[in-house]
Amino acid sequence: MVALGYGTTGFAVGDEVFGLTDWYRDGSLAEFVAVEARNLATKPGSLSHVDAAAFPMTALTAWQALFVHAELKAGQTVVVHGAGGGVGTLAVQLAVSAGARVIGTGRAEARDLVLHLGAEQYLDLADDALDQVKGVDVVFDLIGGDVLHRSWPMLRPGGSIVSIVEAPNAERADVNCLLFVVEPNGEQLTELARRIDTEPLRPVVGNVGALSDGPRLWAKKIAGGIPGKVVLTPSSPAVG
Ligand SMILES: NC(=O)c1ccc[n+]([C@@H]2O[C@H](COP(=O)([O-])OP(=O)(O)OC[C@H]3O[C@@H](n4cnc5c(N)ncnc54)[C@H](OP(=O)(O)O)[C@@H]3O)[C@@H](O)[C@H]2O)c1
Repeated sequence: MVALGYGTTGFAVGDEVFGLTDWYRDGSLAEFVAVEARNLATKPGSLSHVDAAAFPMTALTAWQALFVHAELKAGQTVVVHGAGGGVGTLAVQLAVSAGARVIGTGRAEARDLVLHLGAEQYLDLADDALDQVKGVDVVFDLIGGDVLHRSWPMLRPGGSIVSIVEAPNAERADVNCLLFVVEPNGEQLTELARRIDTEPLRPVVGNVGALSDGPRLWAKKIAGGIPGKVVLTPSSPAVG
């Protein structure tokens, strides 16, 4: 933190913080960004700056999907589509830590990673039959399209589909469904930061590069096969 806005309390210049910027301003892909203090948390000392960059968006999205919107409980079963990506890898870890049974899906290349993170089962969407999975409590959809469409028969009556990529077209009246957009939240992030110090909770970072190399790395990520998040590091050292 290099400067404080007028009236800001709870933080001091020099503090190491992390957080999710809100959606209503440009500038997060830069060396410096102005963020409301309520959207920040103290960065755990055990977390590198690279991991700290990869954590808030992915962890808050997974947390809000699983526990705020789907109200996932211990003992329930959740299917995480796209489990090897940035958000999916956090969702698997958080759901497992909450005592849920996790079935991850995605490409074959992500199988070992997702099982290593604690998923009980992994389905390769190209080969394995989703239609053999029945009675699940929650589907967390990070892919949409046909994968979302194929999710409806998997759910028990009263179950939930939570998507972060498209509005589910309600195909069953006995299943709850919604699309949501993650909200910055310093309180939730503080709780997640506490877990970093007490649990083996970590973001997965598949590639790290210079800010100036962003477009090339993004194209590579979009082409597929890079697990977790891509993190860009500013060329100038942080001030303060
Ligand atoms: N609404 C919100 O608040 C919110 C918040 C965060 C993210 N998002 C969106 O949610 C999505 C997921 O975010 P993310 O950061 O986790 O992205 P990501 O890192 O690209 O993860 C997506 C995962 O799904 C896999 N995948 C994608 N399409 C697939 C398919 N057809 N078959 C099998 N596997 C497939 C990807 O594999 P490959 O990489 O090999 O393709 C990757 O492992 C993105 O579209 C993102 O923009 C929305």
